Amino acid sequence: MVTSPKTAIILGTGLGQLASEITESYEFPYSDIPNFPVSTVEGHAGKLIFGRLGGKDIMAMEGRFHYYEGYSMKEVTFPIRVMYELGIETLFVSNASGGMNPDFKIGDIMIITDHINNFPEHPLRGKNFPTGPRFPDMHEAYDKGLVSMADKIAAEKHIRVMHGVYMGVQGPTFETPSEYRMYHRMGADAVGMSTVPEVIVARHCGIKVFGVSVITDLGIENAAVEVSHEEVQQAANRAQPLMTAIMREMISRS
Ligand code: HPA
Repeated sequence: MVTSPKTAIILGTGLGQLASEITESYEFPYSDIPNFPVSTVEGHAGKLIFGRLGGKDIMAMEGRFHYYEGYSMKEVTFPIRVMYELGIETLFVSNASGGMNPDFKIGDIMIITDHINNFPEHPLRGKNFPTGPRFPDMHEAYDKGLVSMADKIAAEKHIRVMHGVYMGVQGPTFETPSEYRMYHRMGADAVGMSTVPEVIVARHCGIKVFGVSVITDLGIENAAVEVSHEEVQQAANRAQPLMTAIMREMISRS
């Protein structure tokens, strides 16, 4: 049994399939872990998986906690605190997002190069935990070395990857056309309802982060069409094998 993984994965939308590739796995339902919140969203199971992937010991979170579900930011980011206590050094995250960059197409994979925190509550608000400073630097929230590695792997495998800035918002509504336009003008290439809180806490804990976003719908002027949870899931399922291939290889090389 695996006792000390250095790598953790949040199996967000588009990466769920990776769970089935974890070998020698040992699973803990969230409901069995003290203080762990329990996931409520359809399509998000809830367990911590320990095992091996790409030749490495890893731990994975199947099912994450979203602010829109009603959890506090402390609850949303509690699993990251657990990862830190377990000795995790690198975190891989994925999510689904709405693309606002006119170069993006549905099903594109966007490597997250930076984020804009637009959540109404900050995950580090309150007493500072001694894992990091009161005022943490955020110049390189997403590790540049891991971004280069992903680019290299994508090129080797002939997978189209985009780069972009992810805007984290509370949801649960998708954006109005005017909101998409505003977020794009603010500097974001994609918008979604997760990831930013977990990344902030991971960085505060000194954990390196790599993030990818699957573009499941478009909030591009004149291209915007109605978006539903089902369409988001379908687009993510199509991108899934490519995202999985990149992540598996990154884990084995890092
Ligand atoms: N907006 C916010 N969150 C999302 C979107 C979107 O367009 N698509 C998937 N998650």
